[in-house]
Amino acid sequence: MSLAGREKKTSPSKKESIQNFSEHVSSGKVAFFEKYGMPFIMGSRDGCYLGDLDGKKRLFNLHCNGGVFNLGHRNQELIDVLKQGFDTLDIGNGHLMSKARADLAKRIADLMPEDLNYTVFGVGGGEAVDLALKVARAYTGREKIISAKGGYHGHTGLAMAAGDEKYRVPFGPQMPGFVQVLFGDKDALAAEIDTDTAGVILETVPATLGIAVPPEGYLPAVRELCSDRGALLIIDEVQTGLGRTGKLWGFEHFDIVPDIVVLGKGLSGGIYPITATVIRTPLETIFHEDPFIHVSTFGGAEVGCLVAKRVLEISSNPEFMAHVNELARAFDQGVEKLRKKHSRFLMGLRQLGLMMGLELKDELSGPVLSKTAYDHYLLMVYANNDPSICQMLPPLIMKLEDVDLVMERLDKAIGAAKRLRPVLKIKRQVEGFVGKWKH
Ligand SMILES: Cc1ncc(COP(=O)(O)O)c(C=O)c1O
Repeated sequence: MSLAGREKKTSPSKKESIQNFSEHVSSGKVAFFEKYGMPFIMGSRDGCYLGDLDGKKRLFNLHCNGGVFNLGHRNQELIDVLKQGFDTLDIGNGHLMSKARADLAKRIADLMPEDLNYTVFGVGGGEAVDLALKVARAYTGREKIISAKGGYHGHTGLAMAAGDEKYRVPFGPQMPGFVQVLFGDKDALAAEIDTDTAGVILETVPATLGIAVPPEGYLPAVRELCSDRGALLIIDEVQTGLGRTGKLWGFEHFDIVPDIVVLGKGLSGGIYPITATVIRTPLETIFHEDPFIHVSTFGGAEVGCLVAKRVLEISSNPEFMAHVNELARAFDQGVEKLRKKHSRFLMGLRQLGLMMGLELKDELSGPVLSKTAYDHYLLMVYANNDPSICQMLPPLIMKLEDVDLVMERLDKAIGAAKRLRPVLKIKRQVEGFVGKWKH
């Protein structure tokens, strides 16, 4: 039987999982993936690859869930750390003092510039952003929060309020005090930031907006405006942190020091969820009167702290960073070759290290390429707030020689997308696809 034939034959146990998922987790997701011929359930996983539950499809991961799998799937070193941690520890108790949290926070402070010395731990990125915005409001005594149109900071309370309307509308009225401006336009920010502004929150390279690398001078101008008007600069490094951009922190490319840095995703090593909101020393004073005013039961779980500490050790190693930058050059060259070959479909590459986005012909092309990439054994997803861009975030630990393999598959996927796109121009078929698969 051909590979395609084997792929189509679904085992009874996988069928059962799909049915249970449909009946008890999300019927919408099942309908969506079935409609687009992507009946994939994560099964085996290892390094850069994830396999389907049936073992019939194996994808190279160019999505990495926004950086969760920076160090690959099931990184053995991290698994060993976690296993060893369980010999003596568990989640711990967030109300008490903790050696594991203290050690990790100290390590983060050592790796951050200036007085970014304190860390509040969380479980998810949205929670970490919520806390960043709470700190900004409490410290400044002001209300207004400015964020970027098309940016994304999570689906929880304040993080959701800082995001685009489409993620909020069904859930009730917007909270007061939130304003969005065009990313990259310093005049727009200058017009909005005032003496009631508590904070400006930006991703270093907004991912959901389509890997929008900030224009020259933009982030330094934002820093200056915040300092002038007494607002705090919050930089969301949930995707760009931990070496993704070729430096440990993405903001280092732009010679700025934020007042608050949010870390998530990759800090977990893909093994144990943990996030960090890192704040300058003076900001910690807001917790002096009542240090229990912000609590997260599972935030900074002790076994997770051990994993995160090892993630930091690996990611801050200069050899590791040199490897990331070597990979980034290889991707740049590989994509340039494909751009020349497919010049009417692939228009360019947005890139800061291995934070990459393929610029495609139009808004139909991102969803189409996501599908044909899947058909050619690549997991790659278009940017939800700009579907003309396909995000490309490979594992940072991939081998240099694997770049050729990725380019071969991408070449075929683009070829197939070019053939499929005109068919899918029949609008209705695509409409269901655009806007449903987040990030
Ligand atoms: C830049 C950024 N910030 C925050 C978040 C929210 O993180 P979480 O999904 O862990 O709540 C995400 C998630 O995709 C993100 O990409």
